[in-house]
Amino acid sequence: MSVNQPHGGELVNRVNAAYDISSLTKEIELDNFALSDLELIAIGAYSPLTGFLKEADYLSVVQNMKLADGTVWSIPITLPVTEQVAGGLQIGDKVKLVQNGTVYGVIELTEKYSPDKEAEAENVYGTAELAHPGVKKLWERPEVYLAGPITLIKRPEKNQFKEFYLDPKETRAAFAERGWKTVVGFQTRNPVHRAHEYIQKTALEIVDGLFLNPLVGETKSDDIPADIRMESYQVLLKNYYPQDRVFLAVFPAAMRYAGPREAIFHAMVRKNYGCTHFIVGRDHAGVGNYYGTYDAQLIFRNFTPEELGIMPLFFEHSFFCKKCGNMASTKTCPHGAEDRLILSGTKVRQMLSNGEAPPPEFSRPEVVEVLIRGMGVTVGTK
Ligand code: ADX
Repeated sequence: MSVNQPHGGELVNRVNAAYDISSLTKEIELDNFALSDLELIAIGAYSPLTGFLKEADYLSVVQNMKLADGTVWSIPITLPVTEQVAGGLQIGDKVKLVQNGTVYGVIELTEKYSPDKEAEAENVYGTAELAHPGVKKLWERPEVYLAGPITLIKRPEKNQFKEFYLDPKETRAAFAERGWKTVVGFQTRNPVHRAHEYIQKTALEIVDGLFLNPLVGETKSDDIPADIRMESYQVLLKNYYPQDRVFLAVFPAAMRYAGPREAIFHAMVRKNYGCTHFIVGRDHAGVGNYYGTYDAQLIFRNFTPEELGIMPLFFEHSFFCKKCGNMASTKTCPHGAEDRLILSGTKVRQMLSNGEAPPPEFSRPEVVEVLIRGMGVTVGTK
């Protein structure tokens, strides 16, 4: 039983611990990005993908935000290797996917191709500037893309907060067990401050359950480390959320900082985890000033509800308003900037590193305590 259909209709499962690799001689080394993508493809989080994108799909995704067959897909999932490595591989090869001497999977090589990274950057990230962390990463990775279906043979080790790693089939079962017919997914790479809590709970007023699904894969260095965030989410849920209406599990993907494109991708993935609704607030998955405040909402207009198969819930910039005496947004508060408590990421970072707590109207004291204790250095909000 599931609350929503997986993207493409069927949940992909490409995990096979018994896969025989004894006769395979070729191998390639995976970076952290590729290793997390390998696992996410295999467990069905990226359904309908069954492997790294072939060229026709890649081009179609870059240009049209769709796979070649028309299925919505906005972020290229690729396996880049150097020309030298690619030269040693033949189409049809089964190649071991390795990191630090451990074999995690196998790709059946169907294609090798050279991407136009300039076009990928402009289309996916909306800029070719190397100052953009996603674009920088794109250029840091090697120049030939390998394509083909994958099999995951060994799950990457989970050293921390193990119990919060759940596969889409497990979250689906958990939602069904709770009797939730509608579930709203929430993506975050930050601690949950009052503005996040406000939009989550506003959404929860109209659905059965909230799926708090923080991204814990690779992020840029000034984002808050996942272990500290996980602790902060747990104290927040314990103190301020109804236990039977919220479910916390991690999303072990790398952050792309692709703003609007990543919002679509985040929504499709949460559909695979079983969500029926997905929250998109201000500057979702944005970085710096690359995207307009609501670009990540406007992009959804390119698709029909049927194509998406998950309902986005849009929220305007939220904050505590002193005159209203509560949390509000630019949509619901009539007062001016002077009455609104809005702290920049830099300001919050500064306060925490001085051991100074942001006001409780900005962040719950229990959360602040974890953040100050856990790091005392950086707190990244945008
Ligand atoms: S993100 O990169 O994962 O999107 P973040 O963790 O800051 O960053 O945001 C999580 C979600 O909350 C996103 O949908 C974002 O748009 C939304 N959001 C963050 N802060 C606010 C705010 N003050 N008002 C409205 N929405 C917000």
